[in-house]
Amino acid sequence: MRAHEAGALHADIGHRGPGWLRTPEDVNALMPLLWPRTVTRGDAGALTVGGLDVREIAEEYGTPAYILDEADFRARCRDFRAAFDDCDVYYAGKAFLCRAVVGIIAEEGLFLDVCSGGELAVALTAGFPPERLGFHGNNKSVAELTRAVEAGVGRIIVDSFHEIDRLTAIARERGVRPGVLIRVTVGVEAHTHEYIATAHEDQKFGFSLAGGAALAAALKIIDEDVLDLRGLHSHIGSQIFDTGGFEVSARRVLGLQSQIRDARGVELPELDLGGGFGIAYTSQDDPAEPGDLAKRIRKIVEDECEADRLTMPRLSIEPGRAIVGPAVFTLYEVGTVKDVDGIRSYVSVDGGMSDNIRTALYDASYSCTVAGRASAAGPMLARVVGKHCEAGDIVVKDEFLPADVQPGDLLAVPGTGAYCRSMASNYNHVPRPPVVAVAEGTARLVVRRETEDDLLALDMG
Ligand code: LLP
Repeated sequence: MRAHEAGALHADIGHRGPGWLRTPEDVNALMPLLWPRTVTRGDAGALTVGGLDVREIAEEYGTPAYILDEADFRARCRDFRAAFDDCDVYYAGKAFLCRAVVGIIAEEGLFLDVCSGGELAVALTAGFPPERLGFHGNNKSVAELTRAVEAGVGRIIVDSFHEIDRLTAIARERGVRPGVLIRVTVGVEAHTHEYIATAHEDQKFGFSLAGGAALAAALKIIDEDVLDLRGLHSHIGSQIFDTGGFEVSARRVLGLQSQIRDARGVELPELDLGGGFGIAYTSQDDPAEPGDLAKRIRKIVEDECEADRLTMPRLSIEPGRAIVGPAVFTLYEVGTVKDVDGIRSYVSVDGGMSDNIRTALYDASYSCTVAGRASAAGPMLARVVGKHCEAGDIVVKDEFLPADVQPGDLLAVPGTGAYCRSMASNYNHVPRPPVVAVAEGTARLVVRRETEDDLLALDMG
């Protein structure tokens, strides 16, 4: 019997609340909120996704691998489009971007937010219509801005006075009038991890509302009349559940809209409230549905506009995580199981912090299940760790796995579509995993696995 089979101590996972302890049947259960929509545990006990058995996928593509459920991804694009039908939905490419994803985003009628020359290149080489692109970043280079202007990117979200000057010079030289939004720091303390909150005053993004920089930026752009000021932009942070933050942000940014109107008689036609909508990583998370979010956001904007006698601007949002996060799971193979007496079992998988840095970086919580079979064994408290030379190399801090988990088992971690492949590294010279898209019984490689040759290709000897 292993250290933490059924009935053993679970004090250290008290944060998950009472009643969380799983029964033996539960170790095989899949909580629908956490998994891509086509994932089920098939008759043989193994998970299937898009009609394919994960054992076959692992056989063909190896592990670790990110598995993208294409139907789920498309469904989430459609859910947002339907909920925000009178708004523009920009998919935030930083969550995960590759050319296949760009193609799907285009087919599903979404817009696309990019935040670097690299992401812009992926979008443009995939043939995404440039006028449907938004370009973000607090320190875009002159080369990046030039490329965006020359490509005809629909809107550039300006983030500093230096950038306004650079963009003005580029536009003047070329005799064009690029569309811009102003990134406004609205002073909201979003309830999320410090590193992913972006609207409190003391941080690098945007123009401060309270300090007057945002108004000054707007007046400067209007007065110089080289750039086409389309509207204001606010993004308060990421993995946010409390919609109150969006409401405060909308209210404040519309207050600025009124100030601009009062100062120059101009009503900016667009308003972007950013992304940041939270998703469920564990049974403790309870995210809002896109329909609810849309209703609340629309109402607050309508009320504010009415109170200030403003014309309703065209709204846009920029969800990344909420679209791609739940559409992907990572498939690993278990390599070792180690009982650490009196504490927990350590289950090592063939990836780790190089394919998912979020646990180490943000203290993020994940869940997981044995994917290649169902088990009749009781639950065992486990910590899933990677293969890297670092004690903080944790993928799943706490999970009940079947007590008979063993080397060779496949292990699936849901909710890894956002900020996992896009933040993957080569720490310890571990090659980055592939992304396999599955739809209707067919798998296709959309990002191939890195090889040692890829790693050595940059090493000049
Ligand atoms: N718009 C802007 C301006 C952003 O900065 C971001 C995310 C988004 C939209 C999309 O946010 P989402 O809907 O995906 O939450 N690496 C962190 C998240 C960083 C988010 C950066 N900006 C993480 O793994 O949690």
